[in-house]
Amino acid sequence: MTCDCMVIKKLNEKTINLISAGEVIEGPVDILKELIENSIDAGAKQISISIKNSGIDLLEIKDDGIGISKSDLEICTERHTTSKLTNIDELYSLDTFGFRGEALASVNAVSRLVIITSTDDTGKGCVLENNVIKEITSQKGTSIIVKDLFYNQPVRKKFLKSKSAEFTLIYDMFLAYVLLYPDIRFSFDSEKKKTIFPSSTKEQRYNQIFGIDIKSKTIPINTSTDLFKLSGLISAPTNQFYFPTNFLFINKRYVYSTHVQKTITSCYRDYLMVQQKPFFVLFIELDPKTIDVNVHPKKRIVKLQNEMIFLSLLKEAIEKELYREKDDVVISRSLGDFSFSIPTLSKDQKNSSTNKINSSYAFFDSSKSILTDFKKTQSSIYSSNTSAPQKPNTLQLNNHQITKVIGQVHDTYIVCETTTGTLLVDQHAAAERINLEKNRLTHGSSFDKQKLISGIKLDKLSEDQKDMIQKNKGELAILGFVIEKQKQDYFLSTIPKFLNNYLDVNYFINTLEDLKNKENTVDKLKDNLIKLFTCKNSIKANKPLTYLEQVKLISDLENCEDKTICAHGRPTIIYFSQKEIEKMFKRII
Ligand SMILES: Nc1ncnc2c1ncn2[C@@H]1O[C@H](COP(=O)(O)OP(=O)(O)OP(=O)(O)O)[C@@H](O)[C@H]1O
Ligand SMILES: [Mg+2]
Repeated sequence: MTCDCMVIKKLNEKTINLISAGEVIEGPVDILKELIENSIDAGAKQISISIKNSGIDLLEIKDDGIGISKSDLEICTERHTTSKLTNIDELYSLDTFGFRGEALASVNAVSRLVIITSTDDTGKGCVLENNVIKEITSQKGTSIIVKDLFYNQPVRKKFLKSKSAEFTLIYDMFLAYVLLYPDIRFSFDSEKKKTIFPSSTKEQRYNQIFGIDIKSKTIPINTSTDLFKLSGLISAPTNQFYFPTNFLFINKRYVYSTHVQKTITSCYRDYLMVQQKPFFVLFIELDPKTIDVNVHPKKRIVKLQNEMIFLSLLKEAIEKELYREKDDVVISRSLGDFSFSIPTLSKDQKNSSTNKINSSYAFFDSSKSILTDFKKTQSSIYSSNTSAPQKPNTLQLNNHQITKVIGQVHDTYIVCETTTGTLLVDQHAAAERINLEKNRLTHGSSFDKQKLISGIKLDKLSEDQKDMIQKNKGELAILGFVIEKQKQDYFLSTIPKFLNNYLDVNYFINTLEDLKNKENTVDKLKDNLIKLFTCKNSIKANKPLTYLEQVKLISDLENCEDKTICAHGRPTIIYFSQKEIEKMFKRII
């Protein structure tokens, strides 16, 4: 039996071009990427972009590069025409972005394309429009004007994302090249946004894109491992910089990798709030042979050989930069123009901290003697100017030598004088950190359970949640939740013991929901419950504390591993140097 549809036909050139174009161009962002890369390959020092309706109605890019000669213009929109590659051996030594000779042909197949170009400063140039070339006056360089994207492919047009999503993709892609090439002047013009990035150094470019806050809220990276070189910047742990997009470049390609994202996030431990992702701009350079070269340049996802080794080296390198010993990281505050500092931990402090935690609770006994010494010092300072001030006993907090614990303000913050400035301690944040580290040590592999006298009926469970209960009985039991099924009803019969005083069925429901997310390991959920309990169980704000309690809190905080942040990533201490205070009062300028 023969059927018309089984007869093999040769596709005509137009259809072939449209199919190939589909591989290269799914949306306006792909056009922008191809055209910027062409301009960079042409040695442009200035690139101006102008878009309308998220690049769908118009996408224009103008450069001052080498231009296209009349003879090249005649063929440049044909497929497989390139000036960059002549034989396959050159493929791996090319330092240009393009080599397939396909981008312009693809753009031409799905839009109305106009090219205006000139190769010299004589003012003479050419324009290509509707496949016809005319001579015109033009400056050296090339303007590529792409109008009415997918005018001939309404189905493709329908599959575009929302206008604002397409715009975000375009602008992020633009910023990626702005970051990669600080020496090129870039400008962007659209209904939504108009920006100019003059040619500059890498550091100046960071300021131009992210604002001056970037310097104080990020840590510069410049390091190398056995496998790769790493540069760029990452958010400081204690004062997170916010930007909606992260930028990862591997061998100058703007790429995306969930594994790299997760690895970097894991370096921040408790320093991130729930759902918070750290900001980074990272340039990784590695031997091209160790990347699974995917010669389709549109793909932004890369595959690396030995990815596990790569990721563990990356983690080690980033952690080293994040927790490198520093005296003080000065952080600017949005309030006024003064700044405060949150010092970071040294590695030695971190390593010794576990031992310290165990001994920290013995401090309470000795705290009275510290307190006595401390009071003596203070009373001598207050009462008599004639007696020589005593050297204060060693009460330290994160490399700050405390000379006076002045007391509480608003029953919430403890004010301390240090040898070099003033320290504010948030009593709830500090207590939370101390208890978190203690509780993590106390609660072992599975939580002790508290049997409820009468089980709580779970009457609002969705089918999905019931399914989760059946599938995760073991995990839930480790977390202290045992669920019994009686006929069609589910009852919560035990809860983690430490939540006994805070009985709330929502803790169980939230845990169940969290289990749906595969990234949440049992250990992570255990830690979330410990954090929850710790928060509930720690000294609150607006609570008067005795002097002894204040001193003990400071001393216990000093013995913590991550003393500068609470369980949820908020700062525990804020430091004003004497100099900063003098500046604020305009004693010094
Ligand atoms: N802005 C430009 N300035 C100068 N020449 C250009 C410019 N844009 C394109 N060309 C010329 O047109 C040719 C075709 O460009 P096209 O982008 O289609 O291919 P390619 O860059 O060689 O390879 P790829 O398809 O991988 O991008 C280029 O090889 C280059 O010679
Ligand atoms: Mg190209």
